[in-house]
Amino acid sequence: MSTTKGLEGIVAAESKISSIINDQLTYVGYTIDDLAEHASFEEVVFLLWFKRLPNKNELAKFDEELFENMTISNAIVEHFKSYDIHNVHPMAALRTAISLLGLYDSEADDMSDEANNRKAIRLQAKVAAIVSAFSRIRDGKEVVQPKKGLSYAANFLYMLNGKEPIDLEVEAINKALVLHADHELNASTFTARVCVATLSDIYSGITSAISALKGPLHGGANEAVMNMLLEIGEVDNAIPYIKDKMANKEKIMGMGHRVYKTGDPRAKHLKKMSKELTARHGMEKWYEMSIKIEDYIKEEKGLPANVDFYSASVYHSLGIKHDLYTPIFAMSRFSGWIAHILEQYENNRLIRPRAEYVGPQNQVYVDINKR
Ligand code: COA
Repeated sequence: MSTTKGLEGIVAAESKISSIINDQLTYVGYTIDDLAEHASFEEVVFLLWFKRLPNKNELAKFDEELFENMTISNAIVEHFKSYDIHNVHPMAALRTAISLLGLYDSEADDMSDEANNRKAIRLQAKVAAIVSAFSRIRDGKEVVQPKKGLSYAANFLYMLNGKEPIDLEVEAINKALVLHADHELNASTFTARVCVATLSDIYSGITSAISALKGPLHGGANEAVMNMLLEIGEVDNAIPYIKDKMANKEKIMGMGHRVYKTGDPRAKHLKKMSKELTARHGMEKWYEMSIKIEDYIKEEKGLPANVDFYSASVYHSLGIKHDLYTPIFAMSRFSGWIAHILEQYENNRLIRPRAEYVGPQNQVYVDINKR
């Protein structure tokens, strides 16, 4: 048997959801550039789940369904109040909250298509309410209910901040949600598929995926990028800081990608947004610092910036707490995870690879008193 560390280059599933070919990302055949410029997040969710763009009536109905499910029960609110919320990372809180949500859903184990579609809507709607409620409860504030007529992105910001966002803020969050929605067989999506390929339920699949996304080599990178920018502090410190990290063989967060070699097609959209937003809020230094780091790493290591790199300065200029960056990534990726979970159910086979055993052989059991 030969092994491929990290499963690099292994094609482990057929999928009709998204593809990465020649460093171009498409969702159901639409380029990410087209969608990032023109689509609402809700349209993209519909596209990923139903494999076509909705018409006006379908989108209105879909929006309505999302809105109607965008509340959380008192049990979740009380749960957030039941532990030391200041000492818990919101990704851990989200992981537990989604698992808890499954306990309260009487359809959790109903594997019919109809029930799974209803759970899909509930999960996608409730994640926005859960992330914002967590943040507000942590800040000692009242949970805010969603407002009818607002888009998914606008409602998230509304529930988070308790006031209606301006158009530029909605545009930034919508774009970020569209760009993060799906990404072929990334680590968390693969995790979700492995989980549900045992015919486990959708809540288990999503809970597993959140756990995988949490790590700094995956979704956790956006928060790590912001921590790095804050540590650097000033634009002039950027290159010496990076040189030092590289001399210590440390990885630079937000740089490099397993699949993209010439560049992550999502990064340029957030880079543009970062330039606009940081300028608007007098925070240009975060953008300038990011540019310096990106150019230097590209020159020195040939590594491109990935989607997480500029999302950090985008979210920072929107005043979003740094540890909410990865939950926002999760909120978007719920759509992709759900699409993949449903696709896995459609044509399932247990996912069970092999390992090459490299440990000791032919050992003989020794009684514990003789060891
Ligand atoms: N900073 C510095 N060097 C990096 C790097 C980074 N962010 N990412 C990769 N490299 C280097 C490695 O040190 C290694 O160099 P070497 O061959 O000289 O030892 C080489 O590039 C390959 O790295 P490897 O970790 O094996 O690549 P991978 O395909 O397994 O990892 C990532 C992909 C994304 C996990 C990796 O690029 C990374 O850790 N990036 C930072 C975290 C991040 O931003 N994650 C979000 C991804 S969207």
